[in-house]
Amino acid sequence: MTYSSATPLEDLPRGLQGVVFLKVTSVTHWTDRTFSFTCERPETLRFRSGEFAMIGLVDGERPLLRAYSIASPAWDDELEFYSIKVEEGPLTSRLRHLKVGDEIVMRAKPVGTLVHDALTPGKRLILFSTGTGIAPFASVIRDPETYEKFDEVILTQTCREVAELDYGRHLISGIADHEFLPEIVGNKLRFIGTTTREPSQLMGRMTDWLRDGRFAEATGAPLDPATDRVMICGSLDMLRDHKQICEDAGMREGSNSAPGDFVIEKAFVD
Ligand code: A2P
Repeated sequence: MTYSSATPLEDLPRGLQGVVFLKVTSVTHWTDRTFSFTCERPETLRFRSGEFAMIGLVDGERPLLRAYSIASPAWDDELEFYSIKVEEGPLTSRLRHLKVGDEIVMRAKPVGTLVHDALTPGKRLILFSTGTGIAPFASVIRDPETYEKFDEVILTQTCREVAELDYGRHLISGIADHEFLPEIVGNKLRFIGTTTREPSQLMGRMTDWLRDGRFAEATGAPLDPATDRVMICGSLDMLRDHKQICEDAGMREGSNSAPGDFVIEKAFVD
């Protein structure tokens, strides 16, 4: 038996009773390693831009769930997710075959630290990401609150190959073409995409850019705790290195209960 939104509630096994089924409305394959998809948004779902939710697929009588950052902004009618494809990954090896009309499952109550509530006020908001770690920032940079709170928003993404930057580039051009975002965003937003394993206009890890002055040169100033607030999302190694750089610059880590100068969150991996 396969379960779906058409299954009467009383026929759902106990393991699936706490999840909602959401129909997929679009799927885009960006590279061999990455894809994004949109799905229906439950009417009652509330979240803050930058949060993640537990989403996945039905696996027998249970849901197979992983933490995924919501890439769409809080005002959007649909939910968007950006995912890596891992050959042997229990979830992504199946999720990559999603088609329009298929259903994913989600467990209620998004949470997370890459949110405005976890940062103290500042002038520049700097969003450091690698790979699919850009996903929560796709939400944050389309949130009007971001531009109410900051004069300047700098999104960086470092990827192995040039094609992996397409999602971010498309995101930025989508903002420029949007019906109401250009007025809100103005000229406050900048995207710096770098590659490490394929030649491109901008090369190297952002951690190296921060250490050797290329970041300061590109953005007009080095990291400064007096003006800058930082969100970081990527692999564990990436988080460790960026966190160290923030701490060396005199920044304090923030949380929902004690806002600070920078916040970190691990990007989804399998
Ligand atoms: P590199 O190619 O030099 O390893 P991955 O797919 O392995 O998560 O890597 C995504 C991107 O993040 C790659 O460009 C990779 O660079 C970069 N990266 C990996 N580890 C770190 C780190 N500790 N600090 C900064 N960037 C990193």
